[in-house]
Amino acid sequence: MQAATEQRAKFHHMKDGTVEDWAIIGGEAAQHAKGLCGRLVAHLKLLEGDCGGFPIDRLTHCLQTATLAHKDGKNEEYVVCALLHDIGDTLGPANHADIAATILEPFVSEDNAWMVRHHAEFQGYYFLHHLGLDRNMRDQHRDHPLYDYTLEFIDKYDAPAFDPEAETFPLAFFEPMMERVFAKPKKSMYMGDNEGMYEVAEA
Ligand SMILES: [Fe+2]
Ligand SMILES: [Fe+2]
Repeated sequence: MQAATEQRAKFHHMKDGTVEDWAIIGGEAAQHAKGLCGRLVAHLKLLEGDCGGFPIDRLTHCLQTATLAHKDGKNEEYVVCALLHDIGDTLGPANHADIAATILEPFVSEDNAWMVRHHAEFQGYYFLHHLGLDRNMRDQHRDHPLYDYTLEFIDKYDAPAFDPEAETFPLAFFEPMMERVFAKPKKSMYMGDNEGMYEVAEA
């Protein structure tokens, strides 16, 4: 339900938009940006109870991956990447890694975004041959500088995180980390020299 006092832009075609219209939209966009972390938490919760044939549900797998990374001393940006790496399972079953990487990319290092984007090819070593596919798909990245970095993510945190008995921290444990990582993008086409709409968000 929209508030009766909510201001709206007046244009019906974008070509007629005015600076006043865009001040309204920019202000709303800034508020919307502040709610990103909450929307991501809600989306992670969609993975709860969805096992897809795996020994544990997809939310528990994400939490367990993040728990392993955290307990191993990885920094919070990395842990948040571990937590969200399979968030795309609901909307992107054919390219779930791309969904997660695209959400994370503005907020994390290029290395972490690359690791998330390509984690599925690296993980495929453990199962693609069972599906009649090439388990060595990851070899296409063998000479990439982030090959070992991504391999570590798979071998230490993602692939082992299907254990119903393993220690798994709750989502609430990771939410403050998410709030900090998603507070403001490192880069965005909506940020210029003056941080664009994110300057409005802080006002
Ligand atoms: Fe995955
Ligand atoms: Fe995973």
